[in-house]
Amino acid sequence: MNLKDKIVVITGAASGIGAATARHMGVLGAKIAASDINLRRLENVVTEINDAGGTAFAHRVDVSDFNQVDAFFKAAVEAYGSIDIVVSNAGIGGKEQHKTAEHTHEDWHNVIAVNQTGVFYTMQAALKQMMVQGQGSIVNVASLAGLKASGYNLSYSASKFAVVGMTKSAALEYGKDNIRINAVCPGYTRTPLLEKLLGFRPEMEETLKRLIPMDRFGEADEIAEAIAWLASDQAKFITGQTLVLDGGTSLL
Ligand SMILES: NC(=O)c1ccc[n+]([C@@H]2O[C@H](COP(=O)([O-])OP(=O)(O)OC[C@H]3O[C@@H](n4cnc5c(N)ncnc54)[C@H](O)[C@@H]3O)[C@@H](O)[C@H]2O)c1
Repeated sequence: MNLKDKIVVITGAASGIGAATARHMGVLGAKIAASDINLRRLENVVTEINDAGGTAFAHRVDVSDFNQVDAFFKAAVEAYGSIDIVVSNAGIGGKEQHKTAEHTHEDWHNVIAVNQTGVFYTMQAALKQMMVQGQGSIVNVASLAGLKASGYNLSYSASKFAVVGMTKSAALEYGKDNIRINAVCPGYTRTPLLEKLLGFRPEMEETLKRLIPMDRFGEADEIAEAIAWLASDQAKFITGQTLVLDGGTSLL
């Protein structure tokens, strides 16, 4: 697959799935505008891409602040002239694991601000630019937790169901404008976010693996390859869809 000279904007690109997507798309020839709240780690990823012969720059962005998101998109257009692909990936898992009655309001607001409002802000900035250009492709990183029930993390579940809903509703609005909007729904994928979840409850590793018919966690690279394909012209008649990458967990 080829993304030669496609302009790609990615949020949450310093780690895990976002970093793997930035690296993979960089190798495929795309020019990458990479953002994250963690600038130090992001700069390492951008250096790797540039050292491998790609083109990328780093911009510190907290996706829960629209002014920062808007400034980032303006910087991307200033650097590269336009935006072809946006990957809205930044997300957090929440600090706690409680049943709903005990879920703290602080954790609720933090998770919704990043996972839900952050995706809305990112899509909004993307769509304003894509409407000017008359084309574009957005991939939101949702989760299997946006399609199926999952306990002990209501804010995460709510935010990911919202990402799926926003993906479908916005795709309906912008189909005629030559702008596609899709989501990937990873199952359990080995990244720092999953390691943190296992840190809360290490005994969960074996329990989780029993929920995966393929008997292993996904890898960030595997999600990155699907994101690149879904964003690319090879998927040009696909919009409003959720692509599940879960080793079969959703079959159970
Ligand atoms: N790992 C999994 O099992 C899994 C499964 C399903 C969905 N996802 C989703 O995939 C996406 C990426 O997760 P990951 O597993 O790679 O996690 P990760 O923790 O490795 O990476 C997330 C990145 O987002 C950044 N980030 C956090 N808050 C931010 C903010 N306010 N603004 C900008 N950047 C911010 C972090 O600094 C980090 O670099 C998330 O949306 C997550 O919900 C992950």
